[in-house]
Amino acid sequence: MANDNMRAVVQHTLGDPDVLEVTRVPRPVPLPTEVLVRVHAAGINPVDWKTRAGSGMAGVLGAPPFVLGWDVSGVIEAIGAGVTTLAVGDEVYGMPWFPRAAGGYAEYVTAPSRQFARKPSSVTHAQAAAVPLAALTAWQALVDTADLRAGQRVLVHAAAGGVGHFAVQFAKHLGAHVIATASARNHSWLLELGADEVVDYTTTRFEDVVAAVDVVVDLVGDGQDSTSTRSLSVLRPGGVLLAIPSGAAPELMAAGRQSDVRVTGFLVEPDGTALSEIARLIDAAVVHVEAKSYPLDQVARAHRDGEAGHTRGKLVLDLTPTQAADADVDRTTAFYEIRRYQAHPGRRDDLVRCMEDVVLPFVRSRGMSVTGSFNDEQDPDGYLWIRRFDSEADRVTQYAAVYEDQQWTAEIGPRVLTLMDTAKAVITRAVPTPQSPMA
Ligand SMILES: NC(=O)c1ccc[n+]([C@@H]2O[C@H](COP(=O)([O-])OP(=O)(O)OC[C@H]3O[C@@H](n4cnc5c(N)ncnc54)[C@H](OP(=O)(O)O)[C@@H]3O)[C@@H](O)[C@H]2O)c1
Repeated sequence: MANDNMRAVVQHTLGDPDVLEVTRVPRPVPLPTEVLVRVHAAGINPVDWKTRAGSGMAGVLGAPPFVLGWDVSGVIEAIGAGVTTLAVGDEVYGMPWFPRAAGGYAEYVTAPSRQFARKPSSVTHAQAAAVPLAALTAWQALVDTADLRAGQRVLVHAAAGGVGHFAVQFAKHLGAHVIATASARNHSWLLELGADEVVDYTTTRFEDVVAAVDVVVDLVGDGQDSTSTRSLSVLRPGGVLLAIPSGAAPELMAAGRQSDVRVTGFLVEPDGTALSEIARLIDAAVVHVEAKSYPLDQVARAHRDGEAGHTRGKLVLDLTPTQAADADVDRTTAFYEIRRYQAHPGRRDDLVRCMEDVVLPFVRSRGMSVTGSFNDEQDPDGYLWIRRFDSEADRVTQYAAVYEDQQWTAEIGPRVLTLMDTAKAVITRAVPTPQSPMA
């Protein structure tokens, strides 16, 4: 395949956001049961900047270089053997591989198909990429771990953040009474999302105004103002404290036992089935997604903004073909590949000359830039093909779907057909053969 590399955010050392570098790396290839996804947007999570600096999942990823990122939304471009529930062209989203490396800050990822779900159709890829890790955390915490029931009281700390804004909405949907902590600027928004009560943590000790809670979703932790420990006093006997950022330290567990409450750590897991249910809630307008998008080359700024700790909703990276393209590869890029014509060893040189002397000037004269490669594999049906796409996902999909039978020509504009005719004429003139490779 032509253009077998991709843009990705690589870091070669641990450190501050400036270690994040947009560069080119090989494109992954799907194994059996995996899908290759053309990423249109990648979500940013606190675990990303923690890992970048050496904590978070740095121990799992090992020494750099590595590519950060787990949350992705995009379009399936290829599937491995055995995949039956998704197909080329499907729009999907997911948080694959977590906590192992997924390389989500890149134009392509591969991962097991069942770690993805169909993207909610009512939102953009940028919004969808904001969902998986944060929403799965909220879902798995409330539904799977706390077994939240209608009528129970839930306290969500950091309710205005990525996980928090989903937790508020899920808890409300499940029939709970929802109490949210956030600074005052987020209160009206959280009330709109479904919070029944809001507490300004900058002016009020939550334990002074909140009591008889069944579930605390603590997204702040004991690292900030002993938030987990202070939360024990607001829980009913038999209640649950989910200490999500800092986990359940032995002292916290012991204090929980004394108060007759269950204290638990938590780590989110990939779950395509839950993502399907979450997509359904988003498409039914039960759940709103709040996301701010950054171009890929502003990944360092996005990390800085996130690390400041006051994001409303989520931050995402835009990797749509137009946004992610190189400076010299834009909407009017022509991709080309030349294959050797096996039966005529001299043909490859003629194809190269044809490309350089005729096709490339033609392309450039029309304001299109060019990228591509020479594919030197033995191919008895050697031919020259040129494709052009306008950066929309369906073009890429179309290419993937029609490549083998060459019906792609029907999908591509007349300018490329002109190129093909020109190329064909030149090749035929240069190397007369009984049968043209492009006939
Ligand atoms: N264990 C796991 O599986 C797991 C999964 C996901 C996340 N996490 C962890 O959970 C934490 C939250 O993740 P996130 O993605 O939701 O983070 P986030 O989006 O970066 O959180 C930002 C929010 O935190 C709020 N905030 C800051 N300090 C606060 C305080 N003392 N009290 C109440 N709100 C406060 C801010 O609200 P204001 O602007 O109003 O101050 C802001 O809206 C992170 O530490 C993350 O690493 C763990």
